[in-house]
Amino acid sequence: MKILFIGDVVGSPGRDMVKEYLPKLKEKYRPNLTIINGENAAAGKGITEKIYKQFMDWGAQAITMGNHTWDKKEIFEFIDGAKNMIRPANFPKGTPGKGIVYINVNGAEVAIINLQGRTFLPAIDDPFIKVDELIEEAKKRTNIIFVDFHAEATSEKQAFGWYVDGRVSSVVGTHTHTQTADERILPKGTAYITDVGMTGPYDGILGVERDAVIKRFLTSLPVRFEVPKDGRTQLGAVLVTVDNQSGKATKVERILINDDHPFFS
Ligand SMILES: [Fe+2]
Ligand SMILES: [Fe+2]
Repeated sequence: MKILFIGDVVGSPGRDMVKEYLPKLKEKYRPNLTIINGENAAAGKGITEKIYKQFMDWGAQAITMGNHTWDKKEIFEFIDGAKNMIRPANFPKGTPGKGIVYINVNGAEVAIINLQGRTFLPAIDDPFIKVDELIEEAKKRTNIIFVDFHAEATSEKQAFGWYVDGRVSSVVGTHTHTQTADERILPKGTAYITDVGMTGPYDGILGVERDAVIKRFLTSLPVRFEVPKDGRTQLGAVLVTVDNQSGKATKVERILINDDHPFFS
C-alpha cells in the first residue's frame, strides 16, 4: 500500500499546485491512497465545502485539518456530511466532526487519524492519551494506521513519533509549513517526518505575504496576514509504503517541488 500525503495546502496558490501536480504525482508514484492537509486551503484559514469537494474531485480520498479547522464558519454546516474530513481527534468532547476515518483501499482498510499538539498551541486534550485510545479502536479493524500529527514543537512531534513507533504505520508532521529532511522509518516500523512542508506560495513566509510578517517583526503592530495572489509556488508531500498485513512501513520518501527542487516525471 502506497500512501501519498500532501502537506498544508495554503490558499489558491496551494490549490493550483494540487490541481496541477496531483495527476503527475499519481502517474509517477502510483499511490493507492491520497490524503491532503486542508486546514489553510481557503485563503490561508480553514476550508470550504467547495474546496473539500474539489480536493476529492482532483483525486484525494481524505482531508486532514488542524488548528485552523473552524476558521471558515461554514465548516459547521458541512463537517458532519463531509465523511472523509478528519479534524484533530483530541479536540474536546462535543466538538463537531471526527478525528478518525476508515477508508477501504482495494479491500484493505486504512485508519486515518488527525491529532494536534499542545506545545505553543491551544490547550486541548492530551494527544498521547488520545492516540492510545484510537490505536486500540483501530487495531480491531486494521493494522494500517496513518497519523497526521499537527504540532508546532519539533520535540513534541519527535516524542509522539517514538511513542507510537511500531503501533502505527506512519506519523507525518504538519503545521510548521517548512519541510524537514528527517524522514525515516523508526526501529519498530513507523514511518516518520517532523514536517511535510506546505503547498502554496514559495516566496512568502510560511505561505503568507512576507511584507506583513516583516512589519510585524519590526513594529509588533497587528497586521493582516494574506496569501500572495501570484508568484512562485511549491508543493510538499511524502510517500509512505506500508506492508498491508503487518501495517509496518517499508519506505518513506520526501517530495518537494519548487523552482529550486524541480519535478522530474
Ligand atoms: Fe497549516
Ligand atoms: Fe496549523
